Amino acid sequence: MAMMIQPLVQLSDDQLKSRSIFDCGSPTLNSYLLQTAGQHEKRNVARTFCGLQNETIIAYYSLANTEVDVGAVRPEVVKRYRMPMHRLPAVRLCRLAVSTLYHRRGIGGQLLVDAMLRVVAVSNASGCVGLVVDALNSEAARYYEGFGFRPAPNLPLVLFMPLPEIEALLSTENRRRSYRLARRDASGPRPRGVRDDRPRAALPPHVPDRPRRAAQFRRAAQLDGERLPVRY
Ligand SMILES: CC(C)(COP(=O)(O)OP(=O)(O)OC[C@H]1O[C@@H](n2cnc3c(N)ncnc32)[C@H](O)[C@@H]1OP(=O)(O)O)[C@@H](O)C(=O)NCCC(=O)NCCS
Repeated sequence: MAMMIQPLVQLSDDQLKSRSIFDCGSPTLNSYLLQTAGQHEKRNVARTFCGLQNETIIAYYSLANTEVDVGAVRPEVVKRYRMPMHRLPAVRLCRLAVSTLYHRRGIGGQLLVDAMLRVVAVSNASGCVGLVVDALNSEAARYYEGFGFRPAPNLPLVLFMPLPEIEALLSTENRRRSYRLARRDASGPRPRGVRDDRPRAALPPHVPDRPRRAAQFRRAAQLDGERLPVRY
């Protein structure tokens, strides 16, 4: 069964009822979904997107606009992307939570990919230098670092990914995914439970090497295999 990602405001009453049983292990994040996310929607403070399975919310994330202080971005990132001013527009991933029943199944990664797609859409309509995340604690910060986010020099729980890196990750994955699908179509389905000894074709030259640090992002963006596929 595919996971669907939908804006909170588009959920039916029955789907919304499942907020009361959502448990990601953090009472703060559970109560945000139950009590605050709807208020923030009405007041245009933040937008929340929910992952649903069988009409039940199994994960969510929230986005808002923000400003990044160049002082809170690592100097090498400022230099590399020639960030011009002190305060720059960005999108903030305020919250990300997955039901404990679904931890470690790539759902968090899939929501991050979804959030990044929305950041790119925002950047096409308005200035946006990247995605800032607020980590709940140092364990969560490590989680984001695994996807390629970098902590701010003096704020280890605030992490940032510049837009060009988001776009590069998304386009690399899209090209790899279409290449994988094309290759699968050409050679037929892989035999199940049997070692697949067919020679692997070399990747086409236009597909760049994957950034090494973003290992988890890569796995999340692979919507085949054991991960729950996402339907948009
Ligand atoms: C953090 C959280 C969102 C991760 O979601 P998830 O769907 O379980 O994560 P994924 O399956 O996408 O994880 C991909 C990889 O990240 C790593 N990872 C997962 N949870 C992690 C954590 N809490 N800390 C560090 N690394 C973590 C794992 O290495 C995992 O790879 P694996 O499949 O080889 O184990 C989820 O555990 C959660 O909701 N926690 C409670 C709330 C929270 O801490 N939110 C985050 C910050 S606001």
